[in-house]
Formats: sequence, structure tokens, C-alpha cells
Amino acid sequence: MGKKITLSVIKADVGGFVGHSSVHPALLEKAQGMLQGSPLLIDSYVAHVGDDINLIMTHELGRNNGEIHQLAWDTFCACTEVAKKLKLYGAGQDLLADAFSGNIKGMGPGVAEMEFEERKSEPVVVFMADKTEPGAWNLPLYKIFADPFNTAGLVIDPSMHDGFLFEVRDLIENTRVTFSAPEELYDMLVFIGAPGRYCIKRVFHKQSGEIAAVSSTQRLNLMAGRYVGKDDPVCIVRCQSGMPAVGEVLEPFARPHLVSGWMRGSHSGPLMPVGVNQATPTRFDGPPRVVALGFQLSEGKLVGPQDFFADPAFDQARQMANEIAGYMRSLGPFEPHRLHLDEMEYTTMPLVLKKLKDRFEKLR
Ligand code: F6R
Ligand code: MG
Ligand code: MG
Repeated sequence: MGKKITLSVIKADVGGFVGHSSVHPALLEKAQGMLQGSPLLIDSYVAHVGDDINLIMTHELGRNNGEIHQLAWDTFCACTEVAKKLKLYGAGQDLLADAFSGNIKGMGPGVAEMEFEERKSEPVVVFMADKTEPGAWNLPLYKIFADPFNTAGLVIDPSMHDGFLFEVRDLIENTRVTFSAPEELYDMLVFIGAPGRYCIKRVFHKQSGEIAAVSSTQRLNLMAGRYVGKDDPVCIVRCQSGMPAVGEVLEPFARPHLVSGWMRGSHSGPLMPVGVNQATPTRFDGPPRVVALGFQLSEGKLVGPQDFFADPAFDQARQMANEIAGYMRSLGPFEPHRLHLDEMEYTTMPLVLKKLKDRFEKLR
């Protein structure tokens, strides 16, 4: 067996510039300095989408490694200090604990990690989104790994024809179940069609058992038991040679789907694919954005990135997203633009109910 590389993507919002729209360059610089100075890593790249900092790291220490998680935690703490000095908005908002406790999971930041033996050539795409939630990846992951109308390889590439395994998490009950596609697609869709609760955590190549994709499935509000910001998610996908081609991996984003998490974490809107320099949500704090960075791994080095959605081939998707955004906005405070009550992260309902308590008359 050859040596294994771990690709870890850990993200947090530790202060917005301005409001919740973006990350100040001083924070990115701080994060870069922290990671570059670490002997634990083979390589690193610091990116941002909206107000989230994404630490993309390669190493040989495996998933859930305490030292790597500590490094990410310390990096976010150092960035928080910078954010506090500049009085950036919501400084330290995603760091739920006072001190690091061995594993960054459950402490606020989002985590997606995969460990694998690097192939002869190892193309990966790192997706990062803002103003949405982990379930936002359900529809694109379904299309990439299970929909023959999206992924031609499922039909015509013998090494993909057997399909993929999907590990689905129930974020409320904290359980998981694995579905085998294509045989169990209809069963799986019953669950993943409800992305506020059921999220695709991992996808495996069925024939080889190799990891193909992993997403971050943290839900901050469930962890903290109160509104503490959105769980803007990340997702890593391996591409080519028995995995979906890069173009098959990007294709689902050509038609923006509706996701939860716009304005106050309480609205639904289209997920707009953008290049890094357009990853600054503005209108009504949105619409929600997704960036796709491509890397070739070379002995763990991150060769890249390629800013895929900066391509004009996604201009039409952006236009469509703007049209959908305009329509959804026209609904104002009405569902389904505003999320269903169960999903609303900010709500005045208890207060208003209390105020009007005595005015509700029982009907017989
Ligand atoms: C959505 C988001 C923003 C904020 C909104 C209010 O996920 O980050 O839409 O919810 O700007 O922010 P606060 O409550 O911090 O004033
Ligand atoms: Mg924020
Ligand atoms: Mg955010």
C-alpha cells in the first residue's frame, strides 16, 4: 500500500466585512501565515466565499486528527483577534467553545475530510458555499453520482457503470444509513429530498470502495440550541478516471436550485455559481453563492486553484439565478421564500404569540 494523503477543508465565519458579505484581507493573510508556518501540513490554500474563511489543507495525519483540528482552531482564533481589532461584524461568531477540546467537530467550524492514496493523477474540486446549509449539496451530489442525464459516465464508462454508495446522515436523530445507487434511488430520494434534515455526507465508488465525495454536515444551530449563524457548507469531490469528469461534477450548478439560508438564515433562494471575485453576497444578503476551486494533487501539493465558475459558461446560470432571486423576493414575507416555521432561525413567533395570547379564542 502506498502512502495516504488527507485532504481537510475546515471553515468558519469569524467576522464579516462589511456586515455578513465578505472576509477582510487581513484575516486571510493571518490564516495564510498560520498555515504556512505549520510543520504538520504538506500544503495549504486559504480561500473565502462570502463571510466564511476556508482552510484547504493536505497532510499525512488522517481524518479527525487532533493536531490538524487544533491548527485550524488556533488559526480561527488568531483571525478572530484580527477581526476584533478591526471591529469586524460578528467577530468569532462560529467559535462556540472557549477552548479547543481535541476535535473541532461540534465546536462550530464546518469540516470535510477525506483520506486516500493519491492516484497517478488526482484532480479534485472543492466546493464552498455561503448563505446556505449542508443539505444544499444533496441535489448536486445526487446529479453527479446518480443521474445519467447529468453524468454520461454512469452510462458509458464501464468503470462507473455499477454506480456509487451514498452515506446519508439524519442531522436530527444523529444516525446514518447507506444507500446503493442506482438500485435504491427511490428509497434514497425520500430522504435526501428533505435537505434540512437528511444530508449526503459521503459518496463511495461502488466497485473499488474508494472515497469519491465528502461534505460538511455540521448544523450550528442544532449544536448551540439557538441561532448562532449559518452552517455555510463545503464539499470535496474527486474527479476523472472512474470518478465523474470535472465537467460532470460542475454541470448540476448550471441550473441554480433553491436552497435555504438566505437573509437571516430564514429564506429560500437560488444557489448562484460564481468566481472568487464575485463571491460577495449583496442583494438581501445574497443570493446564496457557491465557488468551485479545482486542484491537481501532486504528492500532496495543491497545484492550483482553477476558479471554475468564473467561466462565461456559467453566465447564463447567474442570469437565471438573478431572475429566480427577483421572483422569490417578490413573495416577501410569505412562504416558500420565507422558510417553513420549523426551519426559521430567527423568529418573532414566540414573542408575538405571547403578546396576543389572550386574544386567541377557542373555537367549538
Ligand atoms: C444569513 C446572514 C445574514 C444575517 C443578517 C442579519 O445567513 O448571514 O443574512 O442573518 O444580515 O444579521 P445580524 O442578525 O447579525 O444583524
Ligand atoms: Mg457572518
Ligand atoms: Mg457565511
